[in-house]
Amino acid sequence: MAWSRDSWRNYNILQQPKYLDKDELKNIEEKLKGFPPLVFAGEARNLKAELAKVCEGKAFLLQGGDCAESFANFNANNIRDMFKVILQMAIVLTYAGGCPIVKVGRLAGQFAKPRSSDFEEVNGVKLPSYRGDIINGFEFSQSARVPDPKRMIEAYYRSASTMNLLRAFSRGGLADLHQIHKWNLGFTKRAEIDEKYTQLTDSLTKTLAFMEACGMTSENTPAISQTSFYTSHEALLLPYEEAMTREDSLSGEWYDCSAHMLWIGERTRGIDDAHVHFLSGVKNPIGVKIGPNATADDIINLSAKLNPENEAGRLNIIIRMGADKINDRLPNLLRDVKREGLKMVYSIDPMHGNTTSVAQYKTREFDKILSEVKSFFEISRSEGVYPGGIHLEMTGQDVTECTGGAFNVTEQSLKDRYETQCDPRLNADQALELAFMVADFLKKA
Ligand code: PEP
Ligand code: CO
Repeated sequence: MAWSRDSWRNYNILQQPKYLDKDELKNIEEKLKGFPPLVFAGEARNLKAELAKVCEGKAFLLQGGDCAESFANFNANNIRDMFKVILQMAIVLTYAGGCPIVKVGRLAGQFAKPRSSDFEEVNGVKLPSYRGDIINGFEFSQSARVPDPKRMIEAYYRSASTMNLLRAFSRGGLADLHQIHKWNLGFTKRAEIDEKYTQLTDSLTKTLAFMEACGMTSENTPAISQTSFYTSHEALLLPYEEAMTREDSLSGEWYDCSAHMLWIGERTRGIDDAHVHFLSGVKNPIGVKIGPNATADDIINLSAKLNPENEAGRLNIIIRMGADKINDRLPNLLRDVKREGLKMVYSIDPMHGNTTSVAQYKTREFDKILSEVKSFFEISRSEGVYPGGIHLEMTGQDVTECTGGAFNVTEQSLKDRYETQCDPRLNADQALELAFMVADFLKKA
């Protein structure tokens, strides 16, 4: 069937809210269609070109952010701190790992969540599950959990102002390499990490002084004073994504202008389903999550649909199998897909296959996360495939949601600052610690 921006409506679709007032939904979709795009097609093409370098083994993708952004935690400090920690990680990976880093945030639109269960039960009370702030409310009450299409408008405005701040941070001075000491978030509790980071920043500062002596300054060298920072989210709520999809006047092609990169979740990647169909028609870089039960044919078929011209930088396969399954499942998968000569970026999401529960808290162990990343690098190496990136749920805040790490968040301390509305995130320290470890793996790769 031919693609148009609303042709997904003819396909089977999973994980969608049931809006009660269809007229209201229609009005809101029309309103959104008239709103300015959040990103431009040319920017999505730039990201694709950067990802093509990853595909060739010449760069590395760092994708990270909240599991779900929330309306309640929407403020400048949270955005700034997320930006800072991603810059810190990127500098560690660039400097210690010796590789250019493509930075993609899970933010400015990461508001819709797929759920394993349609209902949530607390103390015998059963309510529809929370599906992300773009759909319904987190509060555990009947009225909050009713899907409200007006939330799409709110999500749009929040995404727009997040985007605005990110653009200001990337170009306006905060990302200048001379500011590297100021990216520190100030709660690095473990001396070793603080020391490692300080060593790195000191040595970078010396390099910058040398470059300045050679005539390269922030004023005349944009690579020193500015950075490229891209946005991404799961393209789950298709009425919203359809409304944000526009025809690019330069190329005549369609782009989903809600973010630079969109991905399809593990639960909605059915080859004949609506999500794959919808994203097959837009030209943005596309990610697909791949869980432990996926087959090589699944990936080959997804590539045929989503990347029929076998373009480098278009398709990102995001592996999320879990530390206990990856060694068993990934080697064969990589081997069988490799035979087809398909161009794709492989990255590792070590979060979603490693979720456990401690009392009422969903959590993840730092060591399991690290172990899956390590396995990913080792397996890639033995299969002759380039390990192209990492995909993380993380925050710039000092939360206690994942256990372990240098400061050792324990099961008892989870309750101290457990702030996520969805999955547990690495805190800023844990994220930075992981970046140092990934830098070591990357150097070897
Ligand atoms: C997510 O990235 O938050 C997510 C739900 O991932 P997955 O589709 O891999 O479960
Ligand atoms: Co998640």
